Amino acid sequence: MTHPAPAPLTLEQKAALLSGADLWHTRAIPEADVPTRTLADGPHGVRLQDASQDHLGIYASAPATAFPTGAALGSTWDPDLVEEVGVALGREARALGVDVLLGPGINIKRSPLCGRNFEYLSEDPFHAGVLGASWVRGVQSQGVGASLKHYAANNQETERLRVSAEVDERTLREIYLPAFERAVTEAAPATVMCSYNKVNGTFASEHHWLLSEVLRDEWGFDGYVVSDWGAVHDPVAALRAGLDLEMPSTGEASPAAIVAAVQAGELDEAVVDRAVARILATHDRLDTQCGEAEVPDLDAHHALARRAAAAGAVLLSNRDGALPLDPIDGGLIAVIGGFATAPRFQGGGSSHVNPTRVDVALDEIRRLTARPVEHAAGFSHDAADGEALADEAVALAARADATVLFLGLPEEDESEGFDRAHLDLPPAQLALLERVAADCDTVIVVLSNGGALALGPVIQHADAVVEMWLGGQASGGAAADLLLGVAEPGGRLAETLPLRLEDTPAFLNFPGDRDGVLYGERVYVGYRWYDTVERAVLAPFGHGLSYTIFELDGLEVEVPDPTATRATVRVTVTNTGDRPGSTVVQLYVSDPVATLDRPASELKGFAKVTLAAGESRRLTFELDERAFQFWSRHGWLAEAGEFVVRVGMSSRDIRAERSIALDLPASLASLTVDSTITEWLAHPQGGVVVQGILGAMAANSGGAGLSEGPGLRMVEQLSLSRLFQLAGRDGKAEVERILAGLTVGAR
Ligand code: BGC
Repeated sequence: MTHPAPAPLTLEQKAALLSGADLWHTRAIPEADVPTRTLADGPHGVRLQDASQDHLGIYASAPATAFPTGAALGSTWDPDLVEEVGVALGREARALGVDVLLGPGINIKRSPLCGRNFEYLSEDPFHAGVLGASWVRGVQSQGVGASLKHYAANNQETERLRVSAEVDERTLREIYLPAFERAVTEAAPATVMCSYNKVNGTFASEHHWLLSEVLRDEWGFDGYVVSDWGAVHDPVAALRAGLDLEMPSTGEASPAAIVAAVQAGELDEAVVDRAVARILATHDRLDTQCGEAEVPDLDAHHALARRAAAAGAVLLSNRDGALPLDPIDGGLIAVIGGFATAPRFQGGGSSHVNPTRVDVALDEIRRLTARPVEHAAGFSHDAADGEALADEAVALAARADATVLFLGLPEEDESEGFDRAHLDLPPAQLALLERVAADCDTVIVVLSNGGALALGPVIQHADAVVEMWLGGQASGGAAADLLLGVAEPGGRLAETLPLRLEDTPAFLNFPGDRDGVLYGERVYVGYRWYDTVERAVLAPFGHGLSYTIFELDGLEVEVPDPTATRATVRVTVTNTGDRPGSTVVQLYVSDPVATLDRPASELKGFAKVTLAAGESRRLTFELDERAFQFWSRHGWLAEAGEFVVRVGMSSRDIRAERSIALDLPASLASLTVDSTITEWLAHPQGGVVVQGILGAMAANSGGAGLSEGPGLRMVEQLSLSRLFQLAGRDGKAEVERILAGLTVGAR
């Protein structure tokens, strides 16, 4: 799209448009017909404050539906549902006069300790990209702009304002950028928000490579880049790098600095024009996309929030079918825990929403069952009367047929602004669980927390465990629906649950210090790490039980053209149980032999499927080039050879796999005069040539010589030219001749 020429504005007016009027608005220039625009958080509800308020979620905002947070939405693995939530968010934003909603948060969950993981979708970039794109499509369908955040490598809260993420390009390309890339290329967000941190020593707000070369030149981003709130240090450097709008207002400081830089000849006015044009064109485009704002149906949105919370709830364990509880038959249900009466359903910080209403799990359980239900608080977070509360709860559980404990992290444990220090539930909750389990036959745990916990003791003592995450304002209702079988647990883990903090991939490198954090685990994030090093986990990526049973069969992988890096995968999923339910069929690809080390397998496709009892569906997945590629020093590359396509219900519950062979012309071992024998042998055409040369040398010497076994091992790190030289030949000239004989593409 070409941007319209900016209206005839003075330099001062243009500079004024490049930073906010206050915390939430852009500046208006009435004489040039440029209206003010409103930006608001995001991501799981609209947080519209009046201009005098804060951006850290401390003060009140207009009521809006608090949908499930990113952790719960990510766990739905359901792009259609996420889009539906996006539509609802867009409608509420429109009705409140919001032009740009600040979300989705698609940073990768690098460590479970990140205090803001509840806002993010996944530890996997493919998964986060698919769902992030759905969120953007939904919101923007209402003429409200989305803002992908936080670009890039903002994976912790500790020192987030100044820490430098030290991360190599392959890791950025394979892990931290693809979700942004997919959302940009597939859903065209109106804006991208740069993060606070530095990336390899340069603030994201001044990072030309990130903001201009990758985002715009490579991915074709056509909206404007907005800063995270207060992320700009030098407005002129930021503009040059590709930032367009600085938020919030810095008063007259930034506009004055921009004007002065242009007047001093340090900043080309065309750079100012470019940013103004991007901002105005994006807002104009949004205007043409939105119809009249409608009054949102808040009842319907609450019902959607309830459905989405159940769809994102992960049933981690369910011994002997403890869940669902029978709503009619059976004796007393004991409900224990303050979260059952005062739910924790969202996290702290800028995403904090003022909900339109809040479902209370205890009330909802009572509404859905004919069985007697009694409640005890069980624990309190200030622990003043801890012993008495626990005794009362244990006595109640001892009289009950089933006990449901609502456990979770206290509000002060996870929020924007700081990271967690450990992965444990409060000791008082664990002690209570142990006592209750000793006295009651059926013990169910319902969890409210935004990031992964080490749940070993919980799984051990409870018959069933449901992870609700921070499930939004209707999560109490959704929990009741799940417990009593009105809904089924649709969630699958979008983050591995480790056994111990020490097992997590970034353990030795998180959170670094004030200067830098080394992404030393490289591409081995989440299951890519656990599965490659075969480390035991509490629950793998993709795991989640259902109330019914699913089977996969009939896996077929079709490669129409082995030189084209594409494949079509078909598999049949059947609900073999006796009740309806949903599952997530997951497709992983492995590249067992590659020039670079690669993770054991990587998610490249998934489908959420709802089936009636006995129903089957044939699924088709199209794998494109990226499904096979890694980032090499030559860019994206898939090497010739074997790939394994696996389908299953988690990264560790693989039900079927097929090997395919791709006969690709390109190889990382692009050959030069310095290439080693190993690199020649790994190369499809070069390998044939060198095998011939080594074979001839062996024949001349009358034995296996260098062509196999220990002889080959000894020379494989030599360059071919050196090998020739050692045999008294003009190595360089001979290799140049061979290279010239290979076609250009094959070299
Ligand atoms: C957060 C952003 C948020 C912004 C505006 C920042 O502190 O990092 O996610 O959108 O504030 O509230």
